[in-house]
Amino acid sequence: MLRTTFFVSLLAVLVAGVPQPFTIHESINGAPEGFVHAGTPSPTTEVSLRISLVQNNIIGLQEKLIEISTPSSATYGQWMSTPEIVEYTKPTPKTDAAVKDWLAANGLTAASTSVAGDWLTIKTTVGQANALFNTDFQQFAHPETGKTFIRTLAYSIPTSLSGAVEVVHPTVTFPNPFGGAPSVHGISKTNSTSLEARGLGKRAIPASCANTITPTCIQAIYGVPATEATSGTANLGVSGFINQFAQVDDLEAFLEQFRPDIPSSTTFAVQTLDGGSDPQGPQDAGIEANLDIQYTVGIATGVPVTFISVGENNQDGNLDGFLDLVNFILNEDAAVRPQVLTTSYGQNENTVSPAQANSLCNAFSTLGAAGVSILFASGDGGVSGSQAQQCSKFVPTFPSGCPFMTSVGATQGISPETAADFSSGGFSNYFARPSYQSDAVEHYLDTPGLPNSRKFNSSGRGFPDVAAQGVNVQIVSGGETGGVDGTSCASPIFASIISLINDRLIAAGKPVLGFLNPFLYSNGASALNDVTSGGNPGCNTQGFPATVGWDPVTGLGTPNFAKLLTAVGL
Ligand SMILES: *[C@@H]1O[C@H](CO)[C@@H](O)[C@H](O)[C@H]1NC(C)=O
Ligand SMILES: *[C@@H]1O[C@H](CO)[C@@H](O)[C@H](O)[C@H]1NC(C)=O
Repeated sequence: MLRTTFFVSLLAVLVAGVPQPFTIHESINGAPEGFVHAGTPSPTTEVSLRISLVQNNIIGLQEKLIEISTPSSATYGQWMSTPEIVEYTKPTPKTDAAVKDWLAANGLTAASTSVAGDWLTIKTTVGQANALFNTDFQQFAHPETGKTFIRTLAYSIPTSLSGAVEVVHPTVTFPNPFGGAPSVHGISKTNSTSLEARGLGKRAIPASCANTITPTCIQAIYGVPATEATSGTANLGVSGFINQFAQVDDLEAFLEQFRPDIPSSTTFAVQTLDGGSDPQGPQDAGIEANLDIQYTVGIATGVPVTFISVGENNQDGNLDGFLDLVNFILNEDAAVRPQVLTTSYGQNENTVSPAQANSLCNAFSTLGAAGVSILFASGDGGVSGSQAQQCSKFVPTFPSGCPFMTSVGATQGISPETAADFSSGGFSNYFARPSYQSDAVEHYLDTPGLPNSRKFNSSGRGFPDVAAQGVNVQIVSGGETGGVDGTSCASPIFASIISLINDRLIAAGKPVLGFLNPFLYSNGASALNDVTSGGNPGCNTQGFPATVGWDPVTGLGTPNFAKLLTAVGL
């Protein structure tokens, strides 16, 4: 034992002593707005870092994903098994060995944190991390929230590993100090008693739906059936982050009030990772989590819903949480894995490094290849980002810029249904426009009266893809009934409708919808209600106008259940 230890530490000194050529891997000009330098951490401070290895053929996987998700393709709907996906995402043996040997030479053992072994975690100290990555980790504070984080403005990797390492995290990507910005504008206490007891199944939209949204309104506006799912195997997952907990009692009160036609005991399953939990009690009621659960259980009638609570045992709240969630789901048996996943957390794209954004986007593409529909709320700051803020150029949100997920914006009103002015949308600065949306986006860019083209990057991936109601949506939280606003409302509503379509597909012996976008931009487009009024102001502009066809406020539009059934061939 002693000898081994001695040998390892001697080798470490030797390696550290040999001047090694380094190449700068990622750098930023300064800490993002809102953060200030707050001193140098002690070299003995423990840190845990994730290293993403270059995958052997992620482009090949993404080409295959586009093929199997395009309705006109002969292989449409042939979702891949996890072992098939891993063949594309695992690093080559050479890459794997190069990185692990380098870590071992420095006395470090890497733990794999992903199915394919493409993400490694190392536990080290600030002092050793500074040497390993030729960097200078510092403390940064975010005075508004009182949080501090250890980050750096640049890091390097040994030049010999340039083709092997994709990203090291957390380094130059700063966290969202608000913890993932639940896209909820705030619960306003209203007396919704008068909204009760409307007849279900009627096609006429209750007049109250013009101002106040309930499950009955969603059913009436989008033609969503109130009858139970029948396939027995359709399912739906709801992500929970930042200690937002979904409450069983609030759901029961919600169903009693807004879905009196189904048992109020209808509930949800809970899965946890990264030390997540779902404690019960009014003090633990999370508005975001309650909204997400109530507008899945309450809309996707009879579809089992699972609340997946991601805890804080990761380095970086929702970013590491997203990655852990993808791997958690990919690792699940296909029979129990959620076919649809809705998430209402995100952050501004410019706070995530391009390499980090790309790694997470690649992870989403693996889940898409497995046949999971991934939906995210687009954000609530109009063109100014995930929350309203000062800006000179438009601020796209993450992960909405990733082409391998479905971004959901928000609308309001019924005659006509109009863009909600907070609905984030625009164009990614990191991800190029994917071919599935070329025609739709080019059509939009020819529209007269768009904002000054210097404010946005028209070659980027345009988002959102679709939309749903998001203003004054009635929920129960902590025993109180009230209305909330946000694209957070829209994502669970749209996801629920997709899970009900999946239910009908499964019952007909067909594959589930999986990665949605190539379908939405082709056969699906005419099954969506085009929203052509309103816009998303921000950055001292009127933002983008909603127009005929796709627009970066409401995407292709809101769902029409009957037309969606036709579009999927039912
Ligand atoms: C809510 O409305 C009902 C029916 O109109 C009324 O009886 C009740 O007093 C109202 N409650 C509050 C808190 O305003
Ligand atoms: C614009 O987007 C493209 C990706 O489509 C990217 O390569 C380019 O760097 C972006 N430009 C700016 C100024 O961000």
